[in-house]
Amino acid sequence: MSSLFDFDKPADAYAVIGNPISHSRSPQIHAAFAQQTGQRIVYTATQVDLGGFEQAVGNFFANGGKGLNITVPFKTEAWKLAGELGPEAERAGAVNTLLMNAKGILVGRNTDGTGLVRDILHNHGGHIVGKKILLVGAGGAARGVLQPLLTEAPAQLLIVNRTASRAHELAADFNVSGNKQNPVTGGSFDNLAGQHFDLIINATAASLQGEVPPLPDESCTASTWCYDMMYSAEPTPFMHWAGQHGAEKSVDGLGMLVEQAAESFFHWRGVRPETTSVIQAIRAELLATR
Ligand code: ATR
Repeated sequence: MSSLFDFDKPADAYAVIGNPISHSRSPQIHAAFAQQTGQRIVYTATQVDLGGFEQAVGNFFANGGKGLNITVPFKTEAWKLAGELGPEAERAGAVNTLLMNAKGILVGRNTDGTGLVRDILHNHGGHIVGKKILLVGAGGAARGVLQPLLTEAPAQLLIVNRTASRAHELAADFNVSGNKQNPVTGGSFDNLAGQHFDLIINATAASLQGEVPPLPDESCTASTWCYDMMYSAEPTPFMHWAGQHGAEKSVDGLGMLVEQAAESFFHWRGVRPETTSVIQAIRAELLATR
């Protein structure tokens, strides 16, 4: 029951845990969500030593904390620590959202893939169903988004990676045999010769090094959409490549960042915040600080 006494209660506590953490935009994003939805929360960023993750999580919830975001390098540890996993988190092998359920069980979710899908579908007006998709990269970022992408029923999803064996392993993990609806295959960049795609998603860390994965020219046509899961003030190297190859659209991952946060907020508060204004505000800040 809501009453005047609610104002005496401290605001519910949330935090993001990572190492390093000073660059995190999550406090700003969740503060914007809270203001917009009228939810009383405080959201802080906490740097935790590499060996101190489990204790930090235990202390946070023991002190009445309501929910955590988990970022690099603790997403796998969070996955192991959770007593219950959402279906998307189970297969992702990584957790970026923790909450304590009514039974006192620590629940792990992974909102990265849903964030990517929502950004493509709702913010950019793109399509996944029936499309031929190329996922570039086979690390944690790629694994984290696969299940929600497959749920949208693409016609084909090819994973390629510099180290091809990782792409094969990842594809095998997600290709339930006999399931013709989700045809996932893995390969090397050499396997791409002569193929083109409706949507190319860059889940590699190449942009961080100012590099572009070695995609053949023909993989991108005038109707291809290119999505870089990285974001920055300037167009990423992969976005430049997309532009040079005449892609219909090329976007970075800022929308995914805000959408994964919105999905976490929804898991915690049961309220879905509006994201467009938050994406626009962060984009404006990025451009202003170039
Ligand atoms: P993350 O959790 O961000 O995915 P990761 O597990 O270290 O981090 O994976 C990084 C991904 O980027 C891998 O797919 C990696 O390819 P390898 O498996 O061959 O290492 C890919 N990657 C990193 N730098 C790259 C580059 N310059 N060109 C192409 N792929 C690159």
